Amino acid sequence: MKVTVVGAGAVGASCAEYIAIKNFASEVVLLDIKEGFAEGKAMDLMQTASLNGFDTKINGVTNDYSKTAGSDICVITSGIPRKPGMTREELIGINAGIVKDVSSNLVKHSPKTIIIVVSNPMDTMAYLVHKTSGLDKSKIIGMGGALDSARFKYRLAEALGAPISDVDGMVIGGHSDTGMVPLTRLATRNSVPVSKFISEERMDQVMEDTKVGGATLTKLLGTSAWYAPGAAVSGLVQAIACDQKKMFPCSVMLDGEYGLKDICIGAPVILGRNGIEKIVELELNDAEKAHMKESAEGVRKTNDLLEL
Ligand code: 2OP
Repeated sequence: MKVTVVGAGAVGASCAEYIAIKNFASEVVLLDIKEGFAEGKAMDLMQTASLNGFDTKINGVTNDYSKTAGSDICVITSGIPRKPGMTREELIGINAGIVKDVSSNLVKHSPKTIIIVVSNPMDTMAYLVHKTSGLDKSKIIGMGGALDSARFKYRLAEALGAPISDVDGMVIGGHSDTGMVPLTRLATRNSVPVSKFISEERMDQVMEDTKVGGATLTKLLGTSAWYAPGAAVSGLVQAIACDQKKMFPCSVMLDGEYGLKDICIGAPVILGRNGIEKIVELELNDAEKAHMKESAEGVRKTNDLLEL
């Protein structure tokens, strides 16, 4: 299993690190445009191999896509990250050009690859890859929901005073401060609806904290987060590489599901060796449907800024 991660910044390096630590891939190629940068990150990470007990080989390369040839999965993290006070949508101008170039270079060398898009605004970047790469829609996956759901579970555990392993929950919709749809009604603590344990008011707070999860970290860190994004990507990569048939909310091209068409937005999918093997349609209530519709309108507004 060969995995390429484009962008050796904090998010890309974290992806490579978590993928390697999980020890299921034979090779991770880390590619960056900055001379020597990916090589340095790869060497540093490889020097953790004996300490962390992995055999995955991490190869750093400077902009040489021939080294990515034959990748089963490619992760795109390239582009500029958010600065405090910025929305993900504001990054579109610079990131669209970068993501288009990167995906076309990747597909040229790995025509059968599955692409995971991380660069922001993520739903729109996934849509751009759909429109420009020629890959089947089952092979283009936007990473947002897995991360947002992890943040949701963190906030739920905090509100419940429970260990995270007790908690389950999912966030669908767009990967943006206003677009996320945390499914509070379906969240559980050991199969018991969380509404049994916390008030509606506290739940609203959990929902708000989840939606601004990325912005909160950007404010604290001065740039966007990397540990949880990297871990979320590694979960998706592992589900595909190990044919786990695991369910994650991911940004996926919809064709009528959830009443939406021609849009990439977060919905639960089953991930296996073929990429997106199934889109799971949940029965949403009226409020959730309205929230999803509003979220889709936001994503479409950003998609409209693309020059396709
Ligand atoms: C975040 O929410 C990277 O968009 C990402 O942290």
